[in-house]
Amino acid sequence: MNMPNLKDARKRTKEEVITKNYNNEKTVKNKLNNKTFYIKTYGCQMNEHDSENMIAILKEMGMNRVEDMEEADLILLNTCSIRENAHNKVFGMLGRIKHLKQTKKNIVVGLTGCMAQEEKVAEDIKNKYKWMDFVLGTHNIHKLSNIVYDSFKEKILKIDAPSIEGEIIENMPVDRQNKYKAYVNIMYGCDKFCTYCIVPYTRGKQRSRNKNDIIKEVESLVKDGYKEVTLLGQNVNAYGKDLNDNYNMANLLEDTAKTGIERVRFMTSHPWDFTDEMIDVIAKYKNIMPSIHLPVQSGNDKILKLMGRRYTKEEYLTLFNKLKKKIPNVAISTDIIVGFPNETDEEFQDTLNLVEECKFDLAYTFIFSKRVGTPAEKMKDSITIEEKEQRLYKLNELVNKYALLNNKKLEGKIVPVLVEQASDKDGFLMGYTDTNKLVNLKGPEKIIGSIVNVKITDAKTWSLNGEYIEK
Ligand code: SAH
Ligand code: SF4
Ligand code: F3S
Repeated sequence: MNMPNLKDARKRTKEEVITKNYNNEKTVKNKLNNKTFYIKTYGCQMNEHDSENMIAILKEMGMNRVEDMEEADLILLNTCSIRENAHNKVFGMLGRIKHLKQTKKNIVVGLTGCMAQEEKVAEDIKNKYKWMDFVLGTHNIHKLSNIVYDSFKEKILKIDAPSIEGEIIENMPVDRQNKYKAYVNIMYGCDKFCTYCIVPYTRGKQRSRNKNDIIKEVESLVKDGYKEVTLLGQNVNAYGKDLNDNYNMANLLEDTAKTGIERVRFMTSHPWDFTDEMIDVIAKYKNIMPSIHLPVQSGNDKILKLMGRRYTKEEYLTLFNKLKKKIPNVAISTDIIVGFPNETDEEFQDTLNLVEECKFDLAYTFIFSKRVGTPAEKMKDSITIEEKEQRLYKLNELVNKYALLNNKKLEGKIVPVLVEQASDKDGFLMGYTDTNKLVNLKGPEKIIGSIVNVKITDAKTWSLNGEYIEK
């Protein structure tokens, strides 16, 4: 057992980050031929990308993926800790799986992702979920093959989720789930320690990948026909700050654009580290998409301070307006938390005012959720959940109004769309605009996989309808 613990999870030292190469295949390659696995991913793009690595590792072992949990020899839950309901979903799922395991004793059940790194979750599993086979932490996904192999041999619960600052593992195999769009990690972990957030404890310290490794990966994606990359990190604007080689996010964006990949995106941007140099690079390169996710969290300075966000509402607005001015047609989306401990009605009103002012293209909105071990967990809170729910409802109405208004502006316009596949809507294809808006469109199947011109015929809050225009 290698249990996570909060004390170590909080630790940040100046120790150098070690980069290693993945090499596990020698022991277990093809050792589980004909076995099947089911994987369910919760949480953010980083977790989705981790799942792409894990799928590839399992396939290298000879396993086949199935979509029906009941048919699987291995059930893997790649979990998220960000809010309480993410937890609840996973524990609900574990209840179903326990039931299944009573009839199918030989199945292997594993849990990975951020929940694996939580002291309390790991303790609970150790004490109350002894029937599970393994818990593998976020720092250890490169060890997946060994722990899975061992789990098929011996039926005892194994936990390998130490709270360490973290390493970088290069050259892990990857089974990309989209043929045209690829995720590329540029950094791991987070050192921002916003007071409500659990990520710095579950993902370790900020570690930037070496620029050559990143660019090499993008170049090979171009060669393989990918049209779009998303540079991933909790805080991509801080890329390179831990490397001391004078190479920053603006440089990385520029070098990524120069590989010739047709579309470059990046997420997530913390307003704190967004430099003018970055804005200039985004404005300069046509293949860096005019679409920026810029979480604001709150429109009130006192709450922002309590959240540890390190900017004021005015500073956010200054950055926001600069982006709007310098990057033609830029779409800006955001994240907002309502009901932070003791947030008053007036303070909430400041958030509504900010939304009125910014008219975001899209906003992901959340009710504050207490996370074990974070500073905000200890903050006294006098606001009832009903009040918080009402605020969320009010905020969503406003957010949706502006999402629709922004989309309506595109009616009649011709926009570039990367067409991905047939849409859930019958007879339509689907894809995303340069500004990252979902479009359902009429057009021939041959345009799947390319960036084409689409005339927007109809705009809704969450999506657009359109028609393919031949050049
Ligand atoms: N690294 C990103 C955010 C990643 S988490 C950033 O700082 O911009 C995604 C979003 O989840 C956050 O922006 C925040 O709005 C929300 N979130 C994080 N912790 C939360 C909590 N304890 N309760 C409610 N929402 C939370
Ligand atoms: Fe969490 Fe803040 Fe880090 Fe984002 S920047 S992952 S919100 S601690
Ligand atoms: Fe969730 Fe971990 Fe991502 S907490 S949002 S899966 S970094």
